[in-house]
Amino acid sequence: MPLFGKKEETKVDFSRLPRHVAIIMDGNGRWAKSRGLPRTAGHAAGAETFRTIATYCREIGIEYLTVYAFSTENWKRPAEEVSAIMGLLKKYLLEAIADMEKQKVRFCFFGDMTPLPAELQKLCRETQDRSAKFEGCQVNICLNYGGRDEIVRAARAFAADCMAGATEPEALTEEKFGDYLWSAGVPDPDLVIRPSGEERISNFLLWQSAYAEFYFTDVNWPDFGKEELRKALAAYQGRSRRFGGV
Ligand code: IPE
Ligand code: IPE
Ligand code: MG
Repeated sequence: MPLFGKKEETKVDFSRLPRHVAIIMDGNGRWAKSRGLPRTAGHAAGAETFRTIATYCREIGIEYLTVYAFSTENWKRPAEEVSAIMGLLKKYLLEAIADMEKQKVRFCFFGDMTPLPAELQKLCRETQDRSAKFEGCQVNICLNYGGRDEIVRAARAFAADCMAGATEPEALTEEKFGDYLWSAGVPDPDLVIRPSGEERISNFLLWQSAYAEFYFTDVNWPDFGKEELRKALAAYQGRSRRFGGV
């Protein structure tokens, strides 16, 4: 590290980036608490971090970014916090729509939108439809998402197709099962990042992260900047992925 001037950036080989990065955006509440602020201020700061990181991922050429914004378990939180999070999502999506033609990011939503406020559901649909034509970078926002819920829904949908005579149990393969998930058509994540010091999966991409590399850091999500992402990418590039082979 130099004694003077700007701290050096972590070196990343931009020709060997993971195709798909997934992030559990955690630690907003603790970030706010440590500053004597309400939890909602942490969520607002976290939304800004999402903007920074999504823009950076697009700039450096990450093809897919999947973020965990609200889990099927997060409904257990106080109603005021849930509605503040929904309000921030709405605000963010309105800005994203305004920015979309410039950014050329394709947005997708993973999760059951039906329990969300009607206005937010409509915004999610509009954002997804209007950005479908973009091919630069795909951002998947997991909203009311749970990995187990996703797998159960897929099993139900496959069973229904069997009952309807469209397929049969023997025809099911891992690849075909993947087509019943929210993530159909998206390659599995190569790197899953969890900030905030927690080292657990919390029901995120259970099926898809079978062979993902995991990166944990104590930094809370609102403080997770470009340099933190570079550290995660450099760590990923130092791993040896064997997929069960040698
Ligand atoms: C993540 O931050 C945001 C959501 C789960 C919606 P938290 O709100 O979980 O922050 P901590 O974990 O309490 O610090
Ligand atoms: C995971 O964080 C969900 C999101 C970041 C959206 P949580 O804060 O809900 O996870 P736990 O409760 O610490 O496992
Ligand atoms: Mg948390």
